[in-house]
Amino acid sequence: MSSTKTKTVFRCGSCGAESPRWLGRCAACGEWSTLAEQLPEFRGVDGPVSDPVPLSSIPLDHITPIPTGVGELDRALGGGLVPGSVTLLGGEPGIGKSTLVLQALSGVARGQGQAMLVSAEESAPQVRDRAERLGGAPSGLALLTETSLPAIVGAVAAHRPAVVAVDSIQSVTYPDASGGAGSVTQVRECAHHLVRVAKETGTAVVLVGHVTKDGELAGPRVLEHVVDTVVAFEGDRHHALRLLRVRKHRFGDTDELGVLEMRCDGLVGVPDPSGLFLADRLPGTAGSVVAPVLEGMRPLLVEVQALVAKAGTPVPRRSVQGLEARRLALLLAVLSRRAAVSVTNADVYASVAGGLRVAEPGVDLALALAIAGAKTGQAFDPETVALGEVGLGGEIRQVAHAPRRLAEAARLGFRRAVVARRTPDASGLQLVRVGRLAEAVAVTGLG
Ligand code: TYD
Ligand code: MG
Repeated sequence: MSSTKTKTVFRCGSCGAESPRWLGRCAACGEWSTLAEQLPEFRGVDGPVSDPVPLSSIPLDHITPIPTGVGELDRALGGGLVPGSVTLLGGEPGIGKSTLVLQALSGVARGQGQAMLVSAEESAPQVRDRAERLGGAPSGLALLTETSLPAIVGAVAAHRPAVVAVDSIQSVTYPDASGGAGSVTQVRECAHHLVRVAKETGTAVVLVGHVTKDGELAGPRVLEHVVDTVVAFEGDRHHALRLLRVRKHRFGDTDELGVLEMRCDGLVGVPDPSGLFLADRLPGTAGSVVAPVLEGMRPLLVEVQALVAKAGTPVPRRSVQGLEARRLALLLAVLSRRAAVSVTNADVYASVAGGLRVAEPGVDLALALAIAGAKTGQAFDPETVALGEVGLGGEIRQVAHAPRRLAEAARLGFRRAVVARRTPDASGLQLVRVGRLAEAVAVTGLG
């Protein structure tokens, strides 16, 4: 029923009499159930009227992406950079953004199109040196060392390259906008102009943006809404591994993942990341359990390691690398209360080998079993993986896409998996189903 606050009117469908309230019987003519609410008449607004068209009358627009030749980038983007689109490539300083962009532009130039690199941070000789290290500078790749936005937009409009990359958006300034280079106003203003030039010329634009240590895109956060695609370039500077995550994509799937390795001659795709993560594993070491995690839609096998040592300080240490500290704290509490594995007076270190960061709960069971094994000194079977989320009650919960993960484990030669009760069986692995953490600790011989 309508609210009594608005001036609603009810009109009788039989005699036309009006009433401020709904009545079962019209007070004027005596008919039953004839009163209906009258909606206020829409008066419209002044000005021109837009005409919608049937959606089916719009021709299908099959846009062919431009491959960059960097296989993992192309795969993550669903083929390459879409003409007229704007892609934001964000990452911490030193992670390899300039390297990736130079490799991608070189790939475009070696393929079908002209490419332009706008270097707003590095000098021409610096860029030339890097290109040499990466296998030379193809003739179709032009360099513009420039920080003034109007000059950059003018060059793109005049030369119309297939792809232009601006490295970085925080170093470019628009004279008419307030603030210094890298300020939110400047970054937003510059991005708006570059988006416009992309749409008008059909050039695919790549904006490089620095993010701070905690993953915040200082200026670029405001960019994420403006661009078509957001690619996060992640990794640990002390490890060679680099991940490309597609966070937003107007032309394809998000959550795609590219895996690369930084070598002395540039970024090289890693065709078998699981193999890479497990390469240095010492099977039979206590405190090591392999978990099949999911990055985007890509299954990866990672080695979860734990070390339990006599506390060296009055307050025991809890230290994580590549895992969430809160998750470790929670699992330690559950282990103690629900599985009789207590490490109260011990230092606990937990890590994911290889520089990957795992934030999903599917790794819980592996981590809990690694801690249990580290405490008792019992090794977990090296041919078994563990997959499951651990609840506060000590229950093991199933995780999404288990068959895909277990298939990856089978591919890498694992034989068994400790999993939650209801996990679907599709991988050819022998499944050891457990309902509770205590049961998992017992059946794996870690208790
Ligand atoms: P860079 O692309 O400059 O990072 P960003 O633009 O994100 O700040 O590269 C950073 C590091 O990568 C640099 O310390 C040197 C290293 N590097 C390699 O290991 N191999 C290479 O082929 C190149 C070009 C760089
Ligand atoms: Mg750089």
